[in-house]
Amino acid sequence: MPGDYDLVVVANRLPVDRVEEPDGSTSWRRSPGGLVTALEPVMKREDGAWVGWAGGAGDEAPEPFDAEGVRCVPIPLSEEEVEEYYEGFSNGTLWPLYHDVIVAPGYHRSWWEAYVRVNERFAEAAAVQAAQGATVWVQDYQLQLVPRMLRQRRPDLQIGFFNHIPFPPFEIFAQLPWRKAIIDGLLGADLVGFQRAADANNFARACRRASNLPARAGRIRLDAEGGREVRAASFPISIDFRALDELAQREDVKARAAEIRRDLGDPEHLLLGIDRLDYTKGILHRLKAFEELLDDGRVDVAEASLVQVATPSRERVEQYVQLRQDVEVTVGRINGTHSTIAHTAVHYLHHSYGREEMAALYLAADVMLVTALRDGMNLVAKEYVASRHDERGVLVLSEFTGAADELGGQALMVNPHDIDGLKDAVLRALRMPPREAGRRMRALRRRVGDHDVQRWAASFLEALAQHAPDPRGTAAEVAASAEASA
Ligand code: G6P
Repeated sequence: MPGDYDLVVVANRLPVDRVEEPDGSTSWRRSPGGLVTALEPVMKREDGAWVGWAGGAGDEAPEPFDAEGVRCVPIPLSEEEVEEYYEGFSNGTLWPLYHDVIVAPGYHRSWWEAYVRVNERFAEAAAVQAAQGATVWVQDYQLQLVPRMLRQRRPDLQIGFFNHIPFPPFEIFAQLPWRKAIIDGLLGADLVGFQRAADANNFARACRRASNLPARAGRIRLDAEGGREVRAASFPISIDFRALDELAQREDVKARAAEIRRDLGDPEHLLLGIDRLDYTKGILHRLKAFEELLDDGRVDVAEASLVQVATPSRERVEQYVQLRQDVEVTVGRINGTHSTIAHTAVHYLHHSYGREEMAALYLAADVMLVTALRDGMNLVAKEYVASRHDERGVLVLSEFTGAADELGGQALMVNPHDIDGLKDAVLRALRMPPREAGRRMRALRRRVGDHDVQRWAASFLEALAQHAPDPRGTAAEVAASAEASA
């Protein structure tokens, strides 16, 4: 029996976080993040449901509930599934494999089995919620088998998939013992979206090489399914530009930015890094470059400080434990050597912050350092740009981010492996004449302002509706109305 919802989003996480109230009851608060922002208006207008994990472990999940106009359908994960599906196959196998094997992926059959089992659970829940002919939009690498599992249950659905992280070159993807099953899982969708054209090409090539399928110009033909065609294309994700722009213009946020600088001892130059504490982000490379600039005497601790926010992430996964140790030892060494009573070289903050504080930090920073070794997009780069209504500040951006495809012309581009090049770029950013910085920032803001997350969601849904027409026209209306509100 079809369900009630015309648009169903399936993502590993629900768009809300569970909050324990003082009286012991639980409530739900919208979690920060672009995806929720992008989809909320569409979800409210259409009858939208969101299927996802509520965090935590246990065999029972909360009953479906409504939060901020969205029907939330929680999926339970047992303690063992958190270890094997989430920490294991998703973040110990796929995450490093898809990020160019910066650390070695683990290939364990028990992890794969848990991944299959949990993907079945998500697919089943989506199949129950989706109305006849509904649109289902599956998100990210944790759920790559869901499109096929869903099509088997509900051939009437329009199915889209979006991969938020890179899709690796075939020579790397080929390591995966279950590569054909992953490709087959994704090909259950009508449209498979990626951040960059290069990711879509890597996927099409993997279809040819691993599964011997004809793939040309972003279309993969499935003869075994009556010639059904799957489209693969790029849809670079973005942020809610307007909301962040407005937030950063609030008087309290501007005052907080000034206060942050004062509290840091009014350094002449403030450098900033904000990342999840993840080995893909190049935090150690950034610290090394800053340390050498201090060692060489090209930067003085009385003039420049680095604030590094490292949001806790995946804290039980081995490589993340190791990275945290390495970062903390490095920060300790830099500060031990270079800080003075009056000036701290690196302010390291292992916390997550709310939107206001983030906006104030962006506004306080003269130079934003995004030095990822590989990153699907990197929304921090776009958030920095959206916060700089004053048209000041310089973005140093790794060429290995998806954002480089869009912002590369105006940001200072770096190869984070090239420490000398990185040091030169940091110095150039610190010394950039205000007129040049202003010109670059204006162009960056035009780009991000024109390509916000609302436009991203609308263009994906529109492409899906065009590729797999729905007799009721629902998806097209969804896309058109989302575009109108963008
Ligand atoms: C990346 C992934 C998301 C993921 C997020 C946070 O952005 O693309 O799917 O939700 O990291 O990671 P976590 O493991 O905490 O969900």
